[in-house]
Amino acid sequence: MSGTGNTKHCVEKLVKLLGENATLIPLEDDGTVEAIKHDDTIILGYPTQFSNAPFMVRSFIKSNDIWKGKKIICLTTMGAFSGDGTGCAARLLKKKGACILGGLQIKMPDAVCDSKLLKKSPEENKRIVSDADKLIETAAEAIKKGKYPKKGLSAGAHLVGFFGQRLWFYRKTAKYSDKLNIHENCIGCGLCSSICPMKNISVLNGKAVAGDRCTMCYRCISSCPQKAITLLGKEVVEQCRFSNYE
Ligand SMILES: Cc1cc2nc3c(=O)[nH]c(=O)nc-3n(C[C@H](O)[C@H](O)[C@H](O)COP(=O)(O)O)c2cc1C
Ligand code: SF4
Ligand code: SF4
Repeated sequence: MSGTGNTKHCVEKLVKLLGENATLIPLEDDGTVEAIKHDDTIILGYPTQFSNAPFMVRSFIKSNDIWKGKKIICLTTMGAFSGDGTGCAARLLKKKGACILGGLQIKMPDAVCDSKLLKKSPEENKRIVSDADKLIETAAEAIKKGKYPKKGLSAGAHLVGFFGQRLWFYRKTAKYSDKLNIHENCIGCGLCSSICPMKNISVLNGKAVAGDRCTMCYRCISSCPQKAITLLGKEVVEQCRFSNYE
């Protein structure tokens, strides 16, 4: 799963470096469950949200009995900090019988378009992406030798993720959000509705209308031509898309 493209880039790069003949499938696609059933080894990528896996990812893992015997690498991206971003999904997958091969947590530009908190200059963001690429290259070399990175999978990382953020912010990711705001300047172009992985937005009478199944991916917010959508903040300060940093 990837809202603004960071995680997609990282998974794509890792797969390419591993030289695997792999298919990249968005979690929201209809054919994902069947594809997982037919594959032995899976890289599950998602962005960290409040030091947790997005609700959509946790819900997908829990509601599908397709994990027994699968070998899985969890790859997460983050804007700053995630104690056990990978561990959050890894623990659920283990309960479902999966074997966790490794964990990779990668710092990428922040995706929260309506907050100034972690915003960086374009140069800094490009440097962050370049560092991320190097980390993925090192990880790919190690994986080829059978040495899997284990970031975020230890008991220590679990404690850091829990006390560092989840204890205080768990409510933010405990369910889908009904807090998406569509502002007056929406022109009803329908772009947000067509790209939302949760099909959470419809256009009615020339205006976008949000439902209550937002997984907080920020894809619509980062793409609206009117900057008319907000979620955690009150106004869009910067539209964050991976294509800005290439
Ligand atoms: C709702 C939300 C919560 C986030 N929480 C965290 C966080 O707790 N720690 C962190 O380092 N980054 C956090 N981020 C930043 C994203 O994890 C990061 O920008 C990620 O690379 C976005 O990936 P994507 O483009 O694949 O969606 C958060 C982003 C969003 C949208
Ligand atoms: S992308 Fe923006 S302008 Fe277009 S329908 Fe959605 S909210 Fe309205
Ligand atoms: S409504 Fe927007 S932020 Fe929420 S899941 Fe859909 S695209 Fe992502």
